[in-house]
Amino acid sequence: MSEQRFAGRVAVVTGAGSGIGQAVARQLAMEGATVVGCDVDAEGLAATAELVEEGGQPGTMIVADITVQADVDRIVAALPDRRVDLLANVAGVMDHFVPVTELDDATWDRVLAVNLTGPMRLCRAMLPLMAGQGRGAIVNVASIGGLTGAVAGSAYVSSKHGLVGLTRSIANLYAEDGVRANAVCPGGVQTNIGRSSAPKVPWAYERLERSFGRVTRTATPAEVSTLVCWLGSDEAVNVNGAVVASDGGWTS
Ligand SMILES: NC(=O)c1ccc[n+]([C@@H]2O[C@H](COP(=O)([O-])OP(=O)(O)OC[C@H]3O[C@@H](n4cnc5c(N)ncnc54)[C@H](O)[C@@H]3O)[C@@H](O)[C@H]2O)c1
Repeated sequence: MSEQRFAGRVAVVTGAGSGIGQAVARQLAMEGATVVGCDVDAEGLAATAELVEEGGQPGTMIVADITVQADVDRIVAALPDRRVDLLANVAGVMDHFVPVTELDDATWDRVLAVNLTGPMRLCRAMLPLMAGQGRGAIVNVASIGGLTGAVAGSAYVSSKHGLVGLTRSIANLYAEDGVRANAVCPGGVQTNIGRSSAPKVPWAYERLERSFGRVTRTATPAEVSTLVCWLGSDEAVNVNGAVVASDGGWTS
């Protein structure tokens, strides 16, 4: 990566210990950003710390649960000079393709907490800092499950539609403060998301499988990272409130 689009910039990346979040942290560091990464997975974060270091930039990796306000406060406290130019909300979990009639409250609460409430907490914490600077970019990694009901269970689909809504609300309300917010909706990506993707309700999975549509390809995390980083860079200065699929045409 020869470009230095993020030289001198501070970027917060959630879910930085694996998959797409790790690829985003790595790319941002290679492009000059000081990365503040967080994840609940300490081992994954240690691997990301090495990748960020190889990128030549200093980084701070924090073991933190984005559903816990005190952990979000620790992420804010770790920002150099309380500056943040880019927030990439990447952390997320699947819901084992559970349909609403089979859904227990704990699964609903957990999936909504990680995929929607956590990103909201990060946005709520970072927006005043960005507005104070008069500039900032938020990129929320949703899913094509934020565009259609056909690819996951009820909790995941609801959480990702909610994240798309949060993104649009921020884009609308904070544009005048110099902040942009956009959402990326990946299709299939080779990551560790399978940890929460084993189907639990056979009949629901069979129905979802029938409507999965034309899956043309499975992406690498780096292929999704390029879009996240572009939306977070000044090259996308006129892009605000966009919801962009990165799915190889799956939802076309
Ligand atoms: N892989 C896919 O096919 C796919 C498709 C569409 C959308 N997505 C979305 O992409 C994002 C990244 O997922 P991925 O595919 O890289 O999966 P992944 O499991 O490889 O990475 C997700 C990371 O989020 C972390 N995480 C989970 N809960 C957390 C919490 N409470 N606080 C902090 N970190 C937490 C995990 O520990 C993990 O390291 C997710 O939001 C996911 O919904 C993935």
